[in-house]
Amino acid sequence: MTLSAVFSENSEGKYAPSFLGTVPSTGTNIYLVRDQVLETLLEPFKEELFYLGRVYGSTPLLPTWFKHFGSGRGGAGEAYHLGIFGKSGSGKSVLAKLILFAYARHADMGAIVIDPQGEFARDLRSGAAGHEGLQLPVREIIEGLGRQAEVLGVSDLVLDRWDIFEEILFESQFFERLGMRRNNNRELACAEIVAHLKKKKVTLKSLPERASFDQAWALLHDEKALARIYNQKDRRAGLKDQVDSADRDAFFSEVWSPVAALFDESRSGARKVTWAIDAVLKEKKFLVLDLSGKDNEDLYWNARIQALTIQKVISDLKQRAEMAYEDDKSLNTLVLIDEAARLAPREKPDDAVEQRVRDQLIDAVRTTRKYGLGWLFISQTLASLHQEILNQMRIMFFGFGLSLGQEYDAVARLVGSRGPALDLYRLFRDPHSAFSVESREYSFMTVGPVSPLSFAGTPLFLSVFNSVDGFLAANPRLAGSGQTGSAALSEEQ
Ligand SMILES: Nc1ncnc2c1ncn2[C@@H]1O[C@H](COP(=O)(O)OP(=O)(O)OP(=O)(O)O)[C@@H](O)[C@H]1O
Ligand SMILES: [Mg+2]
Repeated sequence: MTLSAVFSENSEGKYAPSFLGTVPSTGTNIYLVRDQVLETLLEPFKEELFYLGRVYGSTPLLPTWFKHFGSGRGGAGEAYHLGIFGKSGSGKSVLAKLILFAYARHADMGAIVIDPQGEFARDLRSGAAGHEGLQLPVREIIEGLGRQAEVLGVSDLVLDRWDIFEEILFESQFFERLGMRRNNNRELACAEIVAHLKKKKVTLKSLPERASFDQAWALLHDEKALARIYNQKDRRAGLKDQVDSADRDAFFSEVWSPVAALFDESRSGARKVTWAIDAVLKEKKFLVLDLSGKDNEDLYWNARIQALTIQKVISDLKQRAEMAYEDDKSLNTLVLIDEAARLAPREKPDDAVEQRVRDQLIDAVRTTRKYGLGWLFISQTLASLHQEILNQMRIMFFGFGLSLGQEYDAVARLVGSRGPALDLYRLFRDPHSAFSVESREYSFMTVGPVSPLSFAGTPLFLSVFNSVDGFLAANPRLAGSGQTGSAALSEEQ
């Protein structure tokens, strides 16, 4: 047996967190923890409790709490960074959604989900119907809590910065088709075009117009500009030949337009990234940024532009956070990022854009907590995630699949020992090895101040609810009945 939490009864018959000063004497009765026991002990915290599942290998509900990041009632007074780790299929995304619901109960909290795969967006768009696995009614639950949920996809987002246009132009087919390699000269050419467009008073909004394209094209006939791009005469001549023989109309419609459209404010329903961030920080919406590009056919989109957009979102968030801090306000916002190890890998990426995303993310994680901005990272790996991100985490969940080699070493380091807790963790089974879908178990070990039972610092173990009904029965406020946790549950039992 290890000790997890100690409560003592005071003179009024109330229980309060305490410590164990002496070894209990021989003959002290031992009781099995049941829901009723926990309910009595945790009565004062009743309103704050939230249930993700049951104690691993047992039946009681594991009480957890997810305080908002502001001060005042139900607040932690500061933001927390959280992490959810585990192999593919271990149930990380599902757990993350449950945690989002926990935060959605706080009316003055906003959340933004940076969703590279479009997975969270799919839940919000379609309801959960028609997919395998746990079918969480994500929109109903969030809206049922009185919060506004919204999805912005690639086709709803307008980019609004010249440097991003310059990068995208570099990436696009534009120079590829003119036979120009991805090198310094291509970079120079992009910079020349942007400088020229600005000089001609072309705005980002007007990029989609034919006249803007014509301006860019005209630059490729400008001897002086060409000389700045290539100093070798034969290269210059080569480029000119390519430009002269190119099909200008096709260039406009096939290459220019899909890129320029990303900056087109007149697209119906389109929003700027800054708008999205305000919606979260000021209006406290729950916003999913679907950056998968799945919703989009007409715009130019790839992993690279996705990275540029993520970088823009992170830098805007950070900037806003700093401004809010000067006004002495807590942002009280959660940012959820899936595939964290891809965005903030331990090894320095070769690519300049990827490097910038990584640097910004690390910087943001370091600095934004004091502004009330907390991050929830999801990652399949610990070993390839940047150490600084791990260092900044207060609450962590470890699912199945990290019990070998480097991953296991990383878990052991974060949990702080290789004692019995890790032995228990190693007993987790692959949910997909279960005999039937109903008997699949999605278990997590958690460390950090996530539960009134975790103050001794020992990890806690839980099996996440594997049915929507079970989850809602334990958290009736989410189902709209307003009753709290175990009261409703005992009725159910
Ligand atoms: N608690 C649960 N109860 C029932 N089904 C679950 C639970 N958690 C996850 N599942 C199901 O298991 C499958 C994998 O879960 P999930 O998508 O959350 O895994 P993941 O860890 O996010 O994987 P990846 O790393 O590939 O994104 C899904 O079909 C999901 O619905
Ligand atoms: Mg997932």
